[in-house]
Amino acid sequence: MTLTQDAPVRTDAITVEGVSRSFGSVKAVEDATLTVPRGHVTALIGPNGCGKTTLMLMLSGLLRPDAGEIAIAGHDPRTDAAAVRAEIGWMPDQLGSWDNLTCLQTLTLMGEAYRIPRATARARGMALLHRVHLEEFADRPARVLSRGQKQRLSLARALVHDPAVLLLDEPANGLDPRSRVELRDLVREFAAEGRAVLVSSHVLAELDEMVDDAVFMSKGRTMGEHAAAMVADARLKYRVDALDPAALQEALSRGGVEFEPTATGAITRIADEANAAQALAWLIRQGVQVHRFGPAGSALEQTYMAMNEERR
Ligand SMILES: Nc1ncnc2c1ncn2[C@@H]1O[C@H](COP(=O)(O)OP(=O)(O)O)[C@@H](O)[C@H]1O
Ligand SMILES: [Mg+2]
Repeated sequence: MTLTQDAPVRTDAITVEGVSRSFGSVKAVEDATLTVPRGHVTALIGPNGCGKTTLMLMLSGLLRPDAGEIAIAGHDPRTDAAAVRAEIGWMPDQLGSWDNLTCLQTLTLMGEAYRIPRATARARGMALLHRVHLEEFADRPARVLSRGQKQRLSLARALVHDPAVLLLDEPANGLDPRSRVELRDLVREFAAEGRAVLVSSHVLAELDEMVDDAVFMSKGRTMGEHAAAMVADARLKYRVDALDPAALQEALSRGGVEFEPTATGAITRIADEANAAQALAWLIRQGVQVHRFGPAGSALEQTYMAMNEERR
């Protein structure tokens, strides 16, 4: 008996096939194809203007595709808009202007818009304010919030109806480092609860520690279904630096370890954290004075570069 045999059949929360949308002569999204599984955070990465927001608007049912198929938990936004709205939490790139409402009023009203009874919506709003660490702002108008706090209110607003699928459009945009870390932790928690999360950004570094899979977009098109495998592979690369790089390289050669020499040490592949711990202990036992040992760098960045190489 293995885990994979026992696991339930995987149903993807979002499937998109051959979706296109133009604005006049601008092909904002062209033949986009992707899947977003439950329990994962999937990144939607690409430069400004590549079509991320347009794609997300179509997923949330706010914009009609010209062509292609979309399914949100099995529902088609074109024919089953109400079911899609119930499944989806949408965090737009701008909070919008509900500035005169208090944070709790904002969430309560949003809940009522989803036909949740007022008392329940209020209780859920309060619970969400705790969750995003805004409880002390419950009765203060949203306009007094800082940018990072507004982003967190926006996140809470997207969660009011307990959606199975979360679409976050550039949520880390303009956040300070601390807010970014908090956002990352929240997003990981939502995925751990079994939700599917699709998070867009044009800044690779923002997403590196947040996501499991990545979909890259360029000029309206999604680039290759194999990005996830490339990201996973890039994550296996470790950089090891030692006071005496030659001694490190010698030890690796003796141990039969494949590596790429660098000026300060080596880059090698390590399967997982347990293997990394073993490898480090082994190097120390060999008398190598290791002063740096860790992932070789941004897995997303490496993938992005590799994909651009392929396209040349
Ligand atoms: N409502 C609109 N009317 C006309 N052009 C639009 C509209 N929305 C987006 N576009 C254009 O479509 C392209 C993709 O935009 P967008 O989806 O906002 O990209 P991203 O979110 O990746 O920055 C851009 O060229 C943009 O100017
Ligand atoms: Mg956008």
